[in-house]
Amino acid sequence: MSQSTIWSHKGTFLLAAVGSAVGLGNLWRFPYLAGENGGGAFILVYALTIAAVGIPILIAETLLGRASRKSPIMGMKELISSNNSHSSWKMIGWMGALAAFIILSFYSVIAGWAIHYTGLMFSGSLAGATAEEISTGFDALLASPSLLILYHSLFLGVSVIIVGMGVHKGIENGLRFMMPALFIILLIVFVYAAIEGDLAASLSFLFTFNLDDLSLQGWLDAMGQSFFTLSLGMGAIMAYGAYMSPEASLTRTAISIAIVDTLVALVAGVAIFALVFGQGLEAGQGPGLMFVTLPLAFADLPGGSLLGGVFFILVIGAALTSAISLVEPVAGYFIERFKISRPKAVILMGLGCWLLGLLTVFSFNIWSTESFTHDLFGKNPFDTLEFMTNVMMPLGGVLIALYVGCPLKNELVAQQMAT
Ligand code: PHE
Repeated sequence: MSQSTIWSHKGTFLLAAVGSAVGLGNLWRFPYLAGENGGGAFILVYALTIAAVGIPILIAETLLGRASRKSPIMGMKELISSNNSHSSWKMIGWMGALAAFIILSFYSVIAGWAIHYTGLMFSGSLAGATAEEISTGFDALLASPSLLILYHSLFLGVSVIIVGMGVHKGIENGLRFMMPALFIILLIVFVYAAIEGDLAASLSFLFTFNLDDLSLQGWLDAMGQSFFTLSLGMGAIMAYGAYMSPEASLTRTAISIAIVDTLVALVAGVAIFALVFGQGLEAGQGPGLMFVTLPLAFADLPGGSLLGGVFFILVIGAALTSAISLVEPVAGYFIERFKISRPKAVILMGLGCWLLGLLTVFSFNIWSTESFTHDLFGKNPFDTLEFMTNVMMPLGGVLIALYVGCPLKNELVAQQMAT
């Protein structure tokens, strides 16, 4: 990567950051967490954390990227030397890149499930299926390492190819095509859900705020989700920020990202619960909400196979625009540090993630908690990896805020904030 790589337009960073932010977090994790934690109460804590903590850290992380114009690891190194700060701040770059690497490894496996469901939906094979059949089908998918590996490889392969094609030709062109398509699909699914589902029940579930519904775990989940959904503390925003136009406003851009990301989560949530309640199904199904409950809701609706298929395309597309933002920080490091070509860098990153992703694949079958004897504190490898990133994300976020708030020279911060 040459130091002068900048997005083609002033607004491209916004597009790219929204692409990174909107993903499985909005369409899969947000609805199931809200469903498990009493709906409205969860959303209240989530929205407050986004506004009070998420937006400031988003500004700080973008600032670090734009001020250094390098990948997170090399960028932090540069800022540390030009600001005479302590070398331990390098941790921000290293932890970010490591977290991106770990997240991509399991993100790709889960996005792979959506590939499977796209096929099932479009083929009409779930039409009229019973709850039992659909849930057995999901268990059968998870029990098959070869299917999971196939989808994981496909998803990761496409992500790596897009990033390998370059910042302009691959990432930018891909986003310019995918993002508008995703918004149109979301709108179509929403209108369908409003017509066919129970919109009133969904709205009242998501927007009735009763804080008693929220356990301590619910509070923690809501706060963790606000970091995950904004892609914070993982080098992704810093890496994209490195290409941000000097003229774009950090504050306005960060607020726009948070608003669009939250709107997408809410629209998806309202649509999903309208369909689920419309069919008399339960909200608190956990991670299976999107892969068991929702297909079941589609199974009995007119045009459900087609719309269900379209919905899962939305999931794959949104996951893809997030995954490419996880490839970039690590690939950028390889390019800058070892002066290797972009295609070689992404292949290296892709292979590493693919291998690590096998731990997640096997966590659902041959190493599932009952049979896995090497588990750490009762967790299977996937739980452990997810737990690690859940610690790294807020920690990275806090370190970023502290670094920009204190050791970084005031003139530099003021200059960045002036736009
Ligand atoms: N924000 C993405 C989502 O909601 C996930 C993600 C996390 C992407 C961190 C990049 C970096 O799905």
